[in-house]
Amino acid sequence: MTSSTFIFTRRTLAIAVPIFAIAALGATPAHAQTAPVKVGLMLPATGTYANLGTMIENGFRLYVAEQGGKLAGREIEYFKVDDESEPSKATENVNKLIKRDQVDVLVGTVHSGVALGMAKVARETGTLMIVPNAGADVITGAICAKNIFRTSFTNWQPAYAMGKVAAERGHKNAITITWNYAAGLESAKGFVEGFEKGGGKIAQNLTLPFPNVEFQALLTQIAAQKPDAVFAFFAGGGAVKFVKDYAAAGLNKTIPLYGPGFLTDGTLEAQGAAAQGMLTTLHYADNLNTPRDNAFRLNFAKTYKVNADVYAVQGYDAAQLLAAGLKAAGGDIKNQDKVIAGMSSAQIDSPRGKFSLSTAHNPIQDIYLREVKGKNNESRGIAMKALADPAKGCKM
Ligand code: BEZ
Repeated sequence: MTSSTFIFTRRTLAIAVPIFAIAALGATPAHAQTAPVKVGLMLPATGTYANLGTMIENGFRLYVAEQGGKLAGREIEYFKVDDESEPSKATENVNKLIKRDQVDVLVGTVHSGVALGMAKVARETGTLMIVPNAGADVITGAICAKNIFRTSFTNWQPAYAMGKVAAERGHKNAITITWNYAAGLESAKGFVEGFEKGGGKIAQNLTLPFPNVEFQALLTQIAAQKPDAVFAFFAGGGAVKFVKDYAAAGLNKTIPLYGPGFLTDGTLEAQGAAAQGMLTTLHYADNLNTPRDNAFRLNFAKTYKVNADVYAVQGYDAAQLLAAGLKAAGGDIKNQDKVIAGMSSAQIDSPRGKFSLSTAHNPIQDIYLREVKGKNNESRGIAMKALADPAKGCKM
């Protein structure tokens, strides 16, 4: 035996075994504190919502970059899955991030149906989840959970405000039109609630399957029924097509078209003249002109060569919310109680305006009335101040 040969004595074994055992588990406690935080981005990279996914990711990454690439001293490592806005693949896709990549936090997604599938798995596994768009009401309602947060909205919030505004504008009967899935149906329901409270009546609720864009037959029905107003929920590529078809049919000349701001957000370049003058309600507008929003928009435009929109803001704020949780836990993402406490009590200095979260973990926020002018959704004031979702059925 040479002098360099390691001799295992009882004593060295006693020291070595725990060290090897910890190494075999993948991390020493010190490593766990310094290893990157694993962020699983589950967003659409294809289909009608692809651009929304890109804006959310870019917003998230921008905030991290502004902090020097670290949140509460921890580097961020990204793992990505294209969810295709396909609810039937949600469980399989989210498990790629949870089981295969072992992410610390899920960030996703855009489509309410997919987000519902994600939230179910997040609840069952206790995985921390931040929803940067999907508005499915029950996520911060009946199926709310201490480990699930949202930086966007519930489908009810902007739609309810639009219903109230439409009634105040004197409309008496309206038709709603949307895709037949949670976001569309809940938006239409929110609008109906606000509109009927203000004295309006709903003539009909029209739907077509997601992401179908063959609107012609339904537009013909609207033209025949001649309501005072139409409320539509569509977003992304579908919103572009709907607003253009509505104008091409000449309906915008006689029947005002309203919607939650998704109908005209991130879409105006493509909608052009068809969208001019439209009124929508949303928790963001393009001309807030606050120092916070101006700095964000400038940095976003410089970095990505496109103007920020509501989706970029929601992604940016998802990173801010995670930072608040990590800060409260001294950078230790594994200390979930502290992370959750920090996130729950966070005051987010958002480009949209400051907001805090409800006990159900959904933003309590101002809803702006906006008017399309050129390529901007310009604020015409606050339609509803500090609007909190009713969070029906949430028990935490
Ligand atoms: C949703 O599915 O919740 C949704 C999608 C796009 C824009 C807004 C909401």
